[in-house]
Amino acid sequence: MGGGVIGLSCAYELQKRGHQAVVLEINRCGGQASGAAAGMLAPYSENVEGPDAFFHLCNESLRLYPEWVKEIKRVSGREFEYTESGSLYIAYHEADRLALEGRLLWQREHGSTGALLEGEELFAREPLLSREVKAALYTPEESHLYAPDYVMALEQACRLTGVQIEEQLVQLTVEEWRNDVVVKAQDGRSFNGDRLLVCSGAWAQELADVFGIRIPIYPIRGQICAYEAEVKPVQHMVFSNQGYLVAKENRTLVCGASEDVAGFDTTVTDKGIERLRKWNKQAFPFLAEQTPFHRWAGLRPSTQDGFPLLGRLSASDRVVMAAGHYRNGILLSPVTAKVAADYIERKKLPEAMEAFDPERFSI
Ligand code: FAD
Ligand code: GLY
Repeated sequence: MGGGVIGLSCAYELQKRGHQAVVLEINRCGGQASGAAAGMLAPYSENVEGPDAFFHLCNESLRLYPEWVKEIKRVSGREFEYTESGSLYIAYHEADRLALEGRLLWQREHGSTGALLEGEELFAREPLLSREVKAALYTPEESHLYAPDYVMALEQACRLTGVQIEEQLVQLTVEEWRNDVVVKAQDGRSFNGDRLLVCSGAWAQELADVFGIRIPIYPIRGQICAYEAEVKPVQHMVFSNQGYLVAKENRTLVCGASEDVAGFDTTVTDKGIERLRKWNKQAFPFLAEQTPFHRWAGLRPSTQDGFPLLGRLSASDRVVMAAGHYRNGILLSPVTAKVAADYIERKKLPEAMEAFDPERFSI
């Protein structure tokens, strides 16, 4: 259930392993959070606290990406941008610079070959960056892709390998999940299977009563915008604790993103975009003269503890959950596909995966 980046990646992986996958989507594939994403593959910049289980999952997914991208491009026959740009996490004050130094220490123990840059060295790398920036943490390992094209390629890879994709299904009801799997659509169609994989992002909590567990997944709206950029004005993904900027091959400069509690409302507000613009011109003064030509929003599936719900249900190992990827669902798509497919195949997974047990809130 669910045809976002997670559902499509899992369906592709399962089909490749010899199963018949069926994607049940109430809207259009990629029409929600996945199509709205900035496409950054940034486990170091997005995980600032420390090397917890979530960081390791994100980092493992980053490691899988180069091969995964090649495979999806080859199988789908579609091109999409995948750029190994590296990232800069900027600091304006001494206290923030100290925090970056601390982060560099643990991140270097976990695969980063990063460095703290300042002065000429920093501005040579990112010439248009504000001279107010005191230092930046450079992480060469981080990359990004163009999310809407990536999701379309995934969908095409699914179709060409034989995944059955059913879109615009109005109101799906899970009728049976313990001894068999039966999902009914409002138009009377019935979908039967051996396993049910729940990939319905911010909507997954709708199934809490069906399974009798707590599924604390909530939508957090991300408002985001893009500027036209004839010449690539920003060389890296640039992060701060206020937002991020990333230049795309299609000559746009994408800048995100708010974190709003607004239910399932995907409206873009002037206030939300103004806040981003304020931060953008602080980081890159040339943006003071420019106005974003495009603005949009998506609903991140956030969870109570920030970790996704990824694993089997104890009441029936026919049901696997893969939802709640919050800010990192694009990054996590290859690793989620492999882990979810292992659960579907009833393989034993490493103990570390217990951190994502979908029933951890139900005890
Ligand atoms: P979705 O893409 O929301 O897909 C869920 C699908 O399930 C939807 O298509 C929906 O219609 C469908 N559905 C809902 N209910 C049902 C049902 N009952 N039955 C069947 N289908 C159903 N992540 C990154 O890694 N890098 C980034 O740079 C990044 N930037 C982001 C920027 C913004 C502005 C936003 C909003 C998100 C960003 N994210 C990023 C996060 C990322 O987009 C999400 O984590 C990811 O898209 C979640 O994927 P998903 O497939 O779980 O959810
Ligand atoms: N990962 C970027 C965002 O969620 O906005």
